[in-house]
Amino acid sequence: MKLIIKKNYEEMCAEAAKTIKEQLDHKKDTTLGLATGSTPEGVYKELIKYYKNGEIDFSQVRTFNLDEYIGLSKENINSFNYFMNDKLFDHINIDKKNIHIPNCDGKNIEEFCRNYDKMIEDSGGIDLQIVGVGQNGHIAFNEPANQLSFGTTIVELAENTIEINSRFFDSIEDVPKKAITMGMGTIMQAEKIIWIANGKGKSKVVEKFLSEKTITTEFPVSILKLHKDLTIIVDEQACSSLGR
Ligand code: GLP
Repeated sequence: MKLIIKKNYEEMCAEAAKTIKEQLDHKKDTTLGLATGSTPEGVYKELIKYYKNGEIDFSQVRTFNLDEYIGLSKENINSFNYFMNDKLFDHINIDKKNIHIPNCDGKNIEEFCRNYDKMIEDSGGIDLQIVGVGQNGHIAFNEPANQLSFGTTIVELAENTIEINSRFFDSIEDVPKKAITMGMGTIMQAEKIIWIANGKGKSKVVEKFLSEKTITTEFPVSILKLHKDLTIIVDEQACSSLGR
């Protein structure tokens, strides 16, 4: 496990984007696991900058996103499909057929979940997975619980997640109650994981992760401790709960 502390959000994003660029320099047909949320937004901005400067090529890259709300169409501005196109894919030379984001439009979501893991496997697995974290320690939409799914699955969102994510919606009633998420097993199978966290809001989670020795499904991010190649990139504010 490697911990990198950067001064602020911009530097944290630059560091994460640099790691992604190095991965693509090393393997042009990399499979990336991507995340949504306000944390990775700045990382995507940096990647777009690299692309516009001719320093990065996405033409052979494949992507798999972590999660998506159930009940929002792909065109809905709060869907993760919309977010990814708007914040990254519409601005780079990625081949649209190489983009995979959980799709909840279909009738058989269970079957979609099984196929999603198979698609990841068939693409040779995820080389580099980016994750953010929820204030309750959730990874993707793997919410704290007494057991977690290994593979991609349908989940009920925690009250706390609905409340926090309602900042993007007109009202809390509009926040979907269910989602599709990659399971912790799928995430842990990635070759390399980068966990990014910034701001005071994440300081309790970062502190709990670094100070507690236990691994528990009640604090899903703790499972990342078992990964063989985990890099944590945080800003100073996200470390503000840590003692010296
Ligand atoms: C969402 C996503 C997660 C994300 C988390 C934190 O609910 N499902 O993948 O890591 O919230 O989001 P933010 O980066 O906006 O704090």
